[in-house]
Amino acid sequence: MTSPFELSQKSRSLKPSATVAVTSRALELKRQGVDVISMSVGEPDFDTPPHIKQAAIEAIESGETKYTAVNGIPELREAISAKFSRENGLDYAPDAVTVTSGGKQAIFNAFFALLNPGDEVLIPAPYWVSYPEMVGLTGAVPVEVPTTPQSGFMLDVELLASKITPRTRMIVLNSPGNPTGAVFTPDILRGVAELAQQHGLMIVTDEIYEHLVYDAEQVSIGQFAPEHTLTINGASKAYAMTGWRIGYAGGPRHVIAAMNALQSQSTSNASSISQYAALAALVQHEETHRFIDMARSAYRQRRDVIVRGLNDLGLPTPTPHGAFYVMANTDRIHENELEAARIILDEAKVAVVPGTDFSAPHQVRLSYATSLENIQEVLRRLGQLLA
Ligand SMILES: Cc1ncc(COP(=O)(O)O)c(C=O)c1O
Repeated sequence: MTSPFELSQKSRSLKPSATVAVTSRALELKRQGVDVISMSVGEPDFDTPPHIKQAAIEAIESGETKYTAVNGIPELREAISAKFSRENGLDYAPDAVTVTSGGKQAIFNAFFALLNPGDEVLIPAPYWVSYPEMVGLTGAVPVEVPTTPQSGFMLDVELLASKITPRTRMIVLNSPGNPTGAVFTPDILRGVAELAQQHGLMIVTDEIYEHLVYDAEQVSIGQFAPEHTLTINGASKAYAMTGWRIGYAGGPRHVIAAMNALQSQSTSNASSISQYAALAALVQHEETHRFIDMARSAYRQRRDVIVRGLNDLGLPTPTPHGAFYVMANTDRIHENELEAARIILDEAKVAVVPGTDFSAPHQVRLSYATSLENIQEVLRRLGQLLA
């Protein structure tokens, strides 16, 4: 059926994803029964820990199935406030905290609460694809700050400073980062905080991968410039809770209040049941940290195997210090990363994400949130392809 109705300018402004073609081809191959190994997922392969699930079951059985306050149940905001203090050295009172449907909604609300059309937003590249798209939806302009595989994708603070104009309003940070796995050093973060203070900029820091750090120090930039920082986090990656949709933010009260107002006119509260599950994850934090320690040591082992394997195959891959992604240079397969991803899928039956959408030319992203057996099989298949 054809319809005469045109889509809105905003929805037409969303960039079509270059990755979609590869993803649909992978699904098509799987449907045909081809044994495709997916290295493209962005979620832990572990199940949600039992004490968290149990809290959700109890919430359902005791009738916690109604609307809650838009910004989340008070117990959860108190637990998040305590977590920020205990784990991040951040002082956010419970009314300076809000609970959202995933970290993604917290970022979306933050951008809409803070940005005006024409404002410029500095985003280190390669970046998580949603940042520039969400910035664009507000009418603001994303400005890339490139980083290189040679430096392990470390942010160059001088380069960042050189991109500041009178229109610059915000800096978006994501450390540990998707897709690079880079963990910015405390010195870099101090440098960024000073720039934000000098130029009156807001830092939106997405710390959703904070617990997945291997041999680096993870520091929250909010410690250095609290009035200039909005800290985003969530349950998805640390507690293996992607499907539960719980994110949160802490920051200056007026910004949090504006985010709450936006949420009250769009989605209202995050799922009540998921909020009780996240509450258990935070309150029973010793048990949760036993899970995180187990997951972290599995990821580290997988990272070491995949980085060594890819480099041995002649696909240069820097060692990431956090998250669960690696970026491999695929020039040996094809100089265009989209074409390389297609060849890897069609011939090696491995699904990877081309760097095209992340502003990472010549590279593909592989997620190692999968079993060691899968990783070893992927390396074997790539070895055959390259032979
Ligand atoms: C960097 C980054 N931020 C935020 C998110 C959003 O996570 P969620 O909305 O599940 O909390 C993701 C998910 O892939 C991510 O990679």
